Order: sequence, then structure tokens, then C-alpha cells
Amino acid sequence: MTADTQKQAAGEAAAELVEAGMIVGLGTGSTAAWFVKALAARGLDIKGVPTSDATADLARELGIAIVGLDDVKRVDLTVDGADEIGPGLSLIKGGGAALLREKLVWEASSRCVVIADAAKRVKALGRFPLPIEVVRFGHVHTGQRLADIAAEFDLPPPRLRKSERGLVITDGGNLIYDMASGRIEQPAALGEALKSVTGVVDHGLFLDLADEALIGTDEGVVRLHP
Ligand code: 5RP
Repeated sequence: MTADTQKQAAGEAAAELVEAGMIVGLGTGSTAAWFVKALAARGLDIKGVPTSDATADLARELGIAIVGLDDVKRVDLTVDGADEIGPGLSLIKGGGAALLREKLVWEASSRCVVIADAAKRVKALGRFPLPIEVVRFGHVHTGQRLADIAAEFDLPPPRLRKSERGLVITDGGNLIYDMASGRIEQPAALGEALKSVTGVVDHGLFLDLADEALIGTDEGVVRLHP
């Protein structure tokens, strides 16, 4: 089974959790896209809250009614992918630069389900560089403060994310620094330190947020709890 087939199986399993009438958080990325497609195929009367412009476009294309986060009091269920799934369903997210809207929607959700292929499971977070979203103004100074924090945690300085088209700009108009580490020993402490920096909007550590994981494996979809 390829990683993409595993992602598809996880996305389709998650779509079965949705019931008519629900407000559903729609994640971002290739795994979340499988979920959105499977959800649309069920034809349920639901409303989706997209976590990125890309997901909003996909949902619209597939005929899913979408609303903004502030149009609803609460999201019943959010389904989203992850870059890494560590102990206790701690996560690294933001590989697709959507971490801010994702975290806002997750935090407004009664239930959050993370979906992924088997390779996303790790013993300790950190193999995937941790995305940190920063405002553009003064970002070089912010980047220096991030490097200072990285040094305190014995990590190399974060790097500004660029693509072949130049700097990566998030849907919120911000920039992303990626903090490569190998292994994050104290995710909660690192997360707190990063949030204390003026200029940091948020980071991709999602701790104590996932209620459940659906992982596509060669043996079928495995369900995990924290
Ligand atoms: C986007 C994310 C994605 O969920 C994460 O990057 C996983 O992507 P994929 O499902 O394509 O592997 O956090 O910001």
C-alpha cells in the first residue's frame, strides 16, 4: 500500500464519523483532501468550516456548504492531517502552512480526529521541522529571538521557509520559520517559549488537542486514542 492509499483509507474512515446536521472542521493537506472528497460523496446535509483557502476552494468545488469559523458557535467535529503523530497524540502540523487557521478551528471543536498514513507515527516529535508562523514586520529580529530559544533547547536556528516562487506567505499574510530538531525533548516548554515571542503568531505543536487518530496501515485503518 502506498502512503497515498493509506491517506485515502484514513480519510474515508473519518468521513464515516460525520452525521447529518453537523458543523465539520475541514483540515488542510493531501490527507484532509481525501476526507473532504469522501465527505462530499456522502451527500450529507452538513456545513464545513475550512482551515485554509485551498480547502475552501476544494469544498466549494465538491458542493459542500461552507461557513466561516465566526459564523458558528462551535464545531462538532474537525478532521485534519498531521506531519507527525507522537506520544499521547501530540502532533506537529503546519507543513502546508495552515497551522494558524487549523489550530483556531481545532480549539473551537468538540472533537478532533487526526488522519494520517502510517509513516507519520513517531516515538518522539521533531524529525519533521517545527513550523512557526510569524508576522512579516520585523521578522528578521523575530527570527533571531527564535534562534536564541532554539539554542536554549539545544536546537539549530530555524530557517525562513521559501519555495521556488520566493517566501512562503500564509493565508493570514504571515511568514513561516521551520525549526529542525531531530528530537523535541520538551514540547510543552518549547511551545510556551515560542509563544512568548512578540511577532510569533503560533507554532505547529498541537498538544492535548487530538481526541483520536485514524491511521492508514497495510493492515487497515488503526484507531488510536491519547
Ligand atoms: C497543513 C498541515 C497538514 O495537515 C500536514 O502538513 C499533513 O499534510 P499531508 O496530509 O499532505 O501529509 O498541517 O498545515
